[in-house]
Amino acid sequence: MAPSNTHEVDLSKLSDVSDISPETITDRVNAINSLCPNPRQKFIMERLITHLHQVVSETNLTTEEWMTTIQFLTRVGQTCTNIRQEFILLSDVMGASALVDSINHPKVGGSTENTVLGPFFTKDAADIPHGGSIASAKQSGTPMFVYGRILDTSGQAIPNAKIETWETDAEGFYDTQYADRQEPDCRGRLKSQGDGSYAFRGIVPVAYPIPGDGPVGDLLKSLGRHNFRPAHLHMMIEAPGFETLITALYPRGDKYLKSDAVFGVKTSLIVDLQDVTSDEEARAKGFESAPFKLLKQDFVLVRQEEAKKARVERAAKTVPDEAKVDD
Ligand code: BEZ
Ligand code: FE
Repeated sequence: MAPSNTHEVDLSKLSDVSDISPETITDRVNAINSLCPNPRQKFIMERLITHLHQVVSETNLTTEEWMTTIQFLTRVGQTCTNIRQEFILLSDVMGASALVDSINHPKVGGSTENTVLGPFFTKDAADIPHGGSIASAKQSGTPMFVYGRILDTSGQAIPNAKIETWETDAEGFYDTQYADRQEPDCRGRLKSQGDGSYAFRGIVPVAYPIPGDGPVGDLLKSLGRHNFRPAHLHMMIEAPGFETLITALYPRGDKYLKSDAVFGVKTSLIVDLQDVTSDEEARAKGFESAPFKLLKQDFVLVRQEEAKKARVERAAKTVPDEAKVDD
């Protein structure tokens, strides 16, 4: 059977798009798209077309520049494989991922701020006991003990919260970046205790580059930007009735804190590591000997209703009723 290249559309319902000019084309395109039965899609497309046309018009974009853009996006697509997502990387370095994240996870009261998940979370982390290590014995980094409490916005402990944490090794690579990965390393899953406390051992995180060998890396170079993320420890915390908190802690002093390639740093997530030199304290925390670094951090989770209210309040300012998303 020959492939079909049409689908049934009642032409009499479509608005006239002939004889366009730079002055009329935006309204014409929006008009022909306006039959879209999905009000959310219709709203997003109308805004997208309006802004896209505005960029083209305001910049007097040349044909060569538009072709360069299309060729760039083509290379972005061609660089994607089942283990590499160059489009997400593009979204990250353009700040789109961080913006979507901030809008969808508004800070409520004294809650801990969300930040970008990144591509290195995996579901296969081992369960570790309270105070256990996420780093295997072969890891060479500076030992670090992380502890604190999981709380709600009124300061009450959240027991039994599921905590996932992951970081790079001392070379700046996640376990998944090694072709010969046998098992998860520098990642673990644990539960908060009855009083909301949690504790685990890891290594001091280091700064690392996001992939720079593809079109997104070329874009950064052409913009005079680097492709580094400051050192960070990822944390994801889940508890029934609460918004899942996806966040990261950034040790103070990293030279990339103010120029993170993916815009993930928030001042409230910058932490101080304490030096501990007592062997006795090291042994009490499960290390063989000192020195090690100590990181104390509480995490404050937002109830789902509180987060929903904050999202609804934001949407009320910019989104027409018919195009609102049910939370
Ligand atoms: C990360 O922190 O793992 C990450 C986030 C965004 C892009 C690349 C890496
Ligand atoms: Fe990371």
